[in-house]
Amino acid sequence: MRQASVNSKTVVQFDSVSLRYGNGPEALQDISFSLSAGSFHFVTGPSGAGKSSLLRLLYLAQYPSAGVIRLFGTDTRTIRRQEVPMLRRRIGVVFQDFRLLDHLSAFDNVALPLRVAGLRESEIRPHVKELLEWVGLAEHLDSRPSTLSGGQQQRIAIARAVIGRPELLVADEPTGNVDDAIAMRLMYLFRELNRTGTTVVIATHNEALVARFDQPRLHIAQGRLAVAEAA
Ligand SMILES: Nc1ncnc2c1ncn2[C@@H]1O[C@H](COP(=O)(O)OP(=O)(O)O)[C@@H](O)[C@H]1O
Ligand SMILES: [Mg+2]
Repeated sequence: MRQASVNSKTVVQFDSVSLRYGNGPEALQDISFSLSAGSFHFVTGPSGAGKSSLLRLLYLAQYPSAGVIRLFGTDTRTIRRQEVPMLRRRIGVVFQDFRLLDHLSAFDNVALPLRVAGLRESEIRPHVKELLEWVGLAEHLDSRPSTLSGGQQQRIAIARAVIGRPELLVADEPTGNVDDAIAMRLMYLFRELNRTGTTVVIATHNEALVARFDQPRLHIAQGRLAVAEAA
């Protein structure tokens, strides 16, 4: 088995990872790479290449059919079911389909991770308000997600994923529903988060966006890793 380079600050390590859905063909084949703490990578590739599949492996929504994934130094094959939520709490995820809670306001969706973490309301309120203002939703703190546009829902989802300053941020097409100006603003948000230490992985097929940010990429073509630039 090929061994990707490892150091003590390796956040993610894939060794010869493959993923198969049911009895279908391998959606990902023999993928090896490692991400060091504080790195920032794009996952690129055409539609159907396997970007979302790779991300789902990263946040433990899928498990590989072959190979080994280590997350924060832990071999994910050895994680007990009851330990999964604790590991997931260290990961901020922006889902392509947002997965907001519609019975909660925009504010309460974003506040949720901080409430779960047990912060005081007096700490939560200004923090959530500031972040929602930054993503351009100052007017919509009390709105239910279903009353907002796709782009606005996407920004709530991003705010929720970053509010707790996770160790690892995984975002699937996080700028897919917004215009260029907002996409840039969101990229700056990810970069700021990265500067404070969060390891960032963003899947996108937006080549223009990738070109404007000088970050290494994991390029996937037909389920195989074509380029793995070191960071
Ligand atoms: N839940 C699933 N069940 C079966 N096949 C899937 C599933 N999700 C993705 N696939 C297949 O895996 C391949 C990669 O898909 P995906 O990871 O969504 O690519 P991308 O995000 O790059 O568009 C595609 O052939 C897709 O049809
Ligand atoms: Mg996808």
